[in-house]
Amino acid sequence: MSRPARARINLQALQHNFSLVQQAAPDSHIMAIIKANAYGHGLVRIAQALPAATAFGVSCLDEAIALREAGFDRRIVLLEGLFGPDDIGLIGGYRLDVVVHHDSQLQWLTQGQLLRPLDVWLKIDTGMHRLGFTPQRVNEISTRLQQIPQVASVRYMTHFPCADDLANPVTREQINAFNLATAAVTGEHSLANSAGLLGWPDARADWVRPGIMLYGSSPLGGRTAASLGLQPVMTLSTRLIAVNTRKQGDAIGYGGDWRCPSDMSVGVAAIGYGDGYPRHAPSGTPLRVNGHAASLVGRVSMDMITVDLGDVPDAQVGDEVILWGEGVPVDEVAASATTISYELFCGVGSRVRFDYSA
Ligand SMILES: Cc1ncc(COP(=O)(O)O)c(C=O)c1O
Repeated sequence: MSRPARARINLQALQHNFSLVQQAAPDSHIMAIIKANAYGHGLVRIAQALPAATAFGVSCLDEAIALREAGFDRRIVLLEGLFGPDDIGLIGGYRLDVVVHHDSQLQWLTQGQLLRPLDVWLKIDTGMHRLGFTPQRVNEISTRLQQIPQVASVRYMTHFPCADDLANPVTREQINAFNLATAAVTGEHSLANSAGLLGWPDARADWVRPGIMLYGSSPLGGRTAASLGLQPVMTLSTRLIAVNTRKQGDAIGYGGDWRCPSDMSVGVAAIGYGDGYPRHAPSGTPLRVNGHAASLVGRVSMDMITVDLGDVPDAQVGDEVILWGEGVPVDEVAASATTISYELFCGVGSRVRFDYSA
């Protein structure tokens, strides 16, 4: 029998989450963010299940080319733009949109020979201080871009670092700064990621760029995914490969720093940090065994974890263990492991078998 670690990808849940984006932003085009292998869910399979997305956002040429070669004809946006002057040929050849966020990219654009000019997204740094031109330079850069023969059209975008926190004034300041910076230029606007489009109605504009909410994790602090109507797309599971009775005081796993508080049943499940289950998940991190709530105990190993089976009557070798997904919100596991769902999703390793259900 093969190793039982599985990621079940529920494409109906993905479509349901996409429909929530459509409901929240009915007048906006949707650029589905499917970079990093669709946040670990499988680039092409996820793209195929999103026929109503107007565009796809990816982080690099390899991802964009994989989509084109799989037959997608839609707009594909390289969110970090060109990485060097040599990219321009492929970008033109594969008809990709590029974000332009730096002077160096403007130069590279002018150096390329293209059969057909490119659609460009001018990135404005309204407060994240990662990528983009300052708001004061928007008119200048916009004019320069429009003078470059390799540029067909210019759209305007920005990105939010704090939209998940509805009490944080930064997002309001960013929206104002964006509107001011783009007042004198014409072209479509895009501001909102998942948190932006759910939490900040006037950030929806011409294009929204949802990522994490498509995969069923909550983008808003203090709100569960379920309370937002989101459904988990990835369910990561495995099976018990041992069920053992341990004595009070027995030390479990590496370091021996977790001890059984009483005589108890401890299961061993075939998944570990070698599969992307977070090594820093502490004892008490929730999971489910055979439909019952249970928890991790002891340190996470490369290939295995140990599980408190005290609340799982009749647990047996072969029982299903759900690490996150249906019945175990990924956001709770992420919080327990002091990380975010994005990292958990992206970290699922190649040993895990992916099954897709329509
Ligand atoms: C430029 C840009 N837009 C949109 C998104 C989607 O963000 P989220 O997954 O929080 O919806 C990302 C993701 O990091 C991004 O980099």
